[in-house]
Amino acid sequence: MIYYGLSLLLTWVFLVVVAQDRQGLEIDTAFAIEAVKRAFPDAPNNYVPAAVNCPSTRPAVRGAKTLSPEEQSWLEKRRNNTIDPMKDLLGRLNITGFDINSWFAAHGTNASTLPNIGLAFSGGGYRALMNGAGAIAAFDSRTNNSTSSGHLGGLLQASTYVAGLSGGSWLVGSIFTNNFTTVTDITSQNTGDFWQFGNSIFKGPPKSGIQLLNTAQYYSNIYDEVSNKEDAGWHISLTDFWGRALSFQLINATDGGPAYTFSSIQDDPQFISGDIPMPIIVADGRAPNQTLISGNSTVYEFTPYEFGTFDPTVFGFVPTRYLGSNFTAGQIPSNDKCIRGFDNAGFVMGVSSTLFNQFLLQINSTSISPSFKKALTKILQDVGEDNNDIADIYPNPFYHYNSLSNPGANATTLTLVDGGEDLQNIPLQPLIQPERSLDVIFAVDSSADTTTYWPNGTSLVATYQRSLNGTGIGNGTAFPYIPDQNTFVNLGLNTRPTFFGCNTSNMTGPGPLIVYLANYPYVFNSNVSTFQDSTNNTERNAVIENGYDVVTMGNATTDAQWPVCVGCAILSRSLERTNTTWPSVCEQCFSKFCWDGTVNSTQPEGYAPPTTFSSLKVNGSAKLKRVGPLALLAALVTGASMM
Ligand SMILES: *[C@@H]1O[C@H](CO)[C@@H](O)[C@H](O)[C@H]1NC(C)=O
Ligand SMILES: *[C@@H]1O[C@H](CO)[C@@H](O)[C@H](O)[C@H]1NC(C)=O
Ligand SMILES: *[C@@H]1O[C@H](CO)[C@@H](O)[C@H](O)[C@H]1NC(C)=O
Ligand SMILES: *[C@@H]1O[C@H](CO)[C@@H](O)[C@H](O)[C@H]1NC(C)=O
Ligand SMILES: *[C@@H]1O[C@H](CO)[C@@H](O)[C@H](O)[C@H]1NC(C)=O
Ligand SMILES: *[C@@H]1O[C@H](CO)[C@@H](O)[C@H](O)[C@H]1NC(C)=O
Ligand SMILES: *[C@@H]1O[C@H](CO)[C@@H](O)[C@H](O)[C@H]1NC(C)=O
Ligand SMILES: *[C@@H]1O[C@H](CO)[C@@H](O)[C@H](O)[C@H]1NC(C)=O
Ligand SMILES: *[C@@H]1O[C@H](CO)[C@@H](O)[C@H](O)[C@H]1NC(C)=O
Ligand SMILES: *[C@@H]1O[C@H](CO)[C@@H](O)[C@H](O)[C@H]1NC(C)=O
Ligand SMILES: *[C@@H]1O[C@H](CO)[C@@H](O)[C@H](O)[C@H]1NC(C)=O
Ligand SMILES: *[C@@H]1O[C@H](CO)[C@@H](O)[C@H](O)[C@H]1NC(C)=O
Repeated sequence: MIYYGLSLLLTWVFLVVVAQDRQGLEIDTAFAIEAVKRAFPDAPNNYVPAAVNCPSTRPAVRGAKTLSPEEQSWLEKRRNNTIDPMKDLLGRLNITGFDINSWFAAHGTNASTLPNIGLAFSGGGYRALMNGAGAIAAFDSRTNNSTSSGHLGGLLQASTYVAGLSGGSWLVGSIFTNNFTTVTDITSQNTGDFWQFGNSIFKGPPKSGIQLLNTAQYYSNIYDEVSNKEDAGWHISLTDFWGRALSFQLINATDGGPAYTFSSIQDDPQFISGDIPMPIIVADGRAPNQTLISGNSTVYEFTPYEFGTFDPTVFGFVPTRYLGSNFTAGQIPSNDKCIRGFDNAGFVMGVSSTLFNQFLLQINSTSISPSFKKALTKILQDVGEDNNDIADIYPNPFYHYNSLSNPGANATTLTLVDGGEDLQNIPLQPLIQPERSLDVIFAVDSSADTTTYWPNGTSLVATYQRSLNGTGIGNGTAFPYIPDQNTFVNLGLNTRPTFFGCNTSNMTGPGPLIVYLANYPYVFNSNVSTFQDSTNNTERNAVIENGYDVVTMGNATTDAQWPVCVGCAILSRSLERTNTTWPSVCEQCFSKFCWDGTVNSTQPEGYAPPTTFSSLKVNGSAKLKRVGPLALLAALVTGASMM
C-alpha cells in the first residue's frame, strides 16, 4: 500500500515535471510513450488545453476530397494486416464449395481486392455499451472459445474501421484508450474489472485499485479540472463535466486520466503498425435552438488523426491533435501558437453522447459541493435548458472556412451534440464514404426505438433518407434501399440478422452491404432503459452475454447456417469484384438473410419480442440447458432494476 502510494506520487511528480518541461516546447511523444504504454497521457497540462510550438508544417484545415495522407499510409499497412485474420476466419466459417486457400492464393497479394470490413456500434447509453461489448467480444479472436465452431471470433481482427456513437463511443473509446484491451479483461476481476457501473456516475467509481477518491473528492476533482480549463480562458459546457465523469468509468487510469487524448491513439505501437483497426467517434453539428433531421445535419467524425466532416456543408478536416488551435479561414495565424490537449479522450466520448449531459442535471447528492452546483446552474443560465446538450468546440476550427456552404462559418464556437440526435443512431456516415471503400458493415443496433426499448430500424431509415439527397447532403454516398419501420416490425427484420444492399445493381452507386444486427433477447431482456444510470456487474455481464448471442445467433443454435452466411456477407462484394462464381451455399444465405424487397407498412400492434422465458419454452430443452442459470439470473436482476 505504502509502496503503491509512493510510486503514484513519483509518477505524479514525474508527469508534472514532464508537463512543465514541455510548456512552449515541441512535444516529444516518444517520451510519453515510454512513460505509459497505453493511449497516452500526452496532453501538456492535464485537462487544460495548452499552447505549444506548432510543428514545422503548420496544422491547417484540409479539404475533404480525399482521406488524409496519414490515414492512407496507415490503410496500406492495415489492409495487409487484415489478410491473415480474414483468411483464418473465413476458413473457420466453413463455406462449403469455396476454396479459401486457392482464392487467397489468387487474390491475396492485392489487399484492395479483398474484403474491406467496418464495424459500427450504435448509441443507447449503457445498454448500447454493454450490448455492443457482447458483439465486440464475439468478434474478437482473443475471447475464450470465440474461434470454436458456431462462433465469429476474428471478425474484429479482420476489420479496418470500428465506429462508435454515443453509448457506442463509450465502448469504442474505452477499448482503444486502454491499449485495445478485450471485453473479457475489462470485466474480469483479475485484470482490474474497471467497468464498474454498479456505482452510478453521480456517485463516482468504487474506491479501489487505481480509483482513490470518495464521492465528495470525485466531484471536487471533476470540478477542479473543469474550472482550471475555464480559468485558462476556455469555454466550458456541461459536456466538460460529463466527459470528466465518464472518464472515471471508461479510462483505466487514476482520476479518469485527465491527460489522455484521443489523438494519442495514433502513437500506440499496435496502431502504428496497422495491427488494430481505426476507431472513429461520431457527433453532429447543431447550433443552439436548432433541430436536426438526417437531411440537414452535418455529421462530424473524430479519428486519431483528424476531426471534421465529409458533408458538403463544411467539407474539411483538422488534425485532432491540434483542436483548440485558432484556425481562421483554414490557417492558424502565423503569430499564434498551436494548442494541444483539447481532444481529451473523455471529452471526445462526452461530445458524442451529450444527450446524457442531463444525467448531471438529476444529481441530488449531498456530496456535491455548492460550487459544483453553482457551475452547472451558471452554464444552464447561459445556454438554456433546451440547449444543455451542446458541447462547445471553441475556437471553431472551421471559422471562415467554406463560408458559402458552412452554416457556422461566422460563429466563433462550433457547437456539437450527441451523434444520435439526427436519428442516425448507428455511426454509418464515416463508413459509407466512397473514399473509405468499405464492402460490408456489421451494424450493431442497440437503439430504443420502440416504447419497449428495442430497435425497429429507425436509424437505418434515417441514413437511407439522407442518402436520397445524393448530390446534396448525401454527397455521393450510396446506401441500400431501406423499408419503413412498420415493415421492420411486421417482417421481423429486427428479430434476426438482416442484410441490406445484397443486389448491387439496385444501389445508386458502389456502397457496402449492411449486416443489420438488432438487439434482441436471447438469454436476457437486454432492453434496459437508456436512462438507467447504474447496472450491477451480474446484469452487466448478462447484457454482454446476450449481445454475444445476438450477433452469433446464440452461437449458431438458432440457425446453424449463420456463420457460413457471415462469411458470404464478408465476401460478397469482393467475389463480385473478382468475377468469382458464387458458392451455392451463399445463394442460400442471401435468400435467407437478405431483405427481399417485401414491404408491409400496416401499423403493427406494438413490438414486444418473446421474453427469454417464453423463448426457452419455444426452443426446447437443449437451449434451456445452456441458458438455465442465466435465465435465473435474469429473473433476479430484471425484476429489480428495469425502469
Ligand atoms: C498493450 O498490448 C500489447 C499487445 O497485446 C502488449 O504487447 C503490451 O504489453 C500492452 N501494453 C500495456 C502497457 O499493457
Ligand atoms: C502490402 O502487401 C503488398 C503485397 O504483399 C506489398 O507489396 C506492400 O508493400 C505492402 N504494404 C505495406 C505498407 O506493408
Ligand atoms: C463444414 O460444413 C459441412 C457441410 O455443411 C459439414 O459437413 C462439415 O462438418 C463442416 N465442417 C466443420 C469443421 O464444421
Ligand atoms: C469454452 O468451451 C469449453 C468447452 O466447450 C467450456 O467448457 C467452457 O465453459 C467455455 N468457456 C466459456 C467462457 O464459454
Ligand atoms: C487497468 O489498470 C491496471 C493498473 O495499471 C492494470 O493492472 C490492469 O491490467 C488494467 N486493466 C485493463 C483491463 O487494462
Ligand atoms: C434560443 O431560444 C431562447 C428562447 O427562445 C432565446 O432566449 C435564446 O436567445 C436563443 N438562443 C440563441 C443562441 O438563439
Ligand atoms: C432541419 O429540418 C427541420 C425539419 O424540417 C427543421 O425544423 C430544422 O430547423 C432544420 N435545421 C437546420 C439546421 O436546418
Ligand atoms: C484568432 O485569429 C483571428 C485572426 O487572426 C483573431 O482575430 C482572433 O482574435 C484569434 N482568436 C483567438 C482566440 O486567439
Ligand atoms: C432533490 O433534492 C431536493 C431538495 O434539495 C428534494 O426536494 C427532492 O425531492 C430531491 N429529489 C430526488 C429525486 O431525490
Ligand atoms: C458570414 O459573413 C460573411 C461576411 O459578413 C457573409 O458574406 C456570409 O454570408 C456569412 N456566412 C454565413 C453562413 O452566415
Ligand atoms: C419505431 O421507432 C420510432 C422512433 O422511436 C417510432 O416513432 C415508431 O413508432 C416505431 N415504429 C414501430 C412500428 O415500432
Ligand atoms: C439536399 O442537400 C442540400 C445540401 O445540404 C440542401 O441544401 C437541400 O435542401 C437538400 N435537399 C433536400 C430535398 O433535402
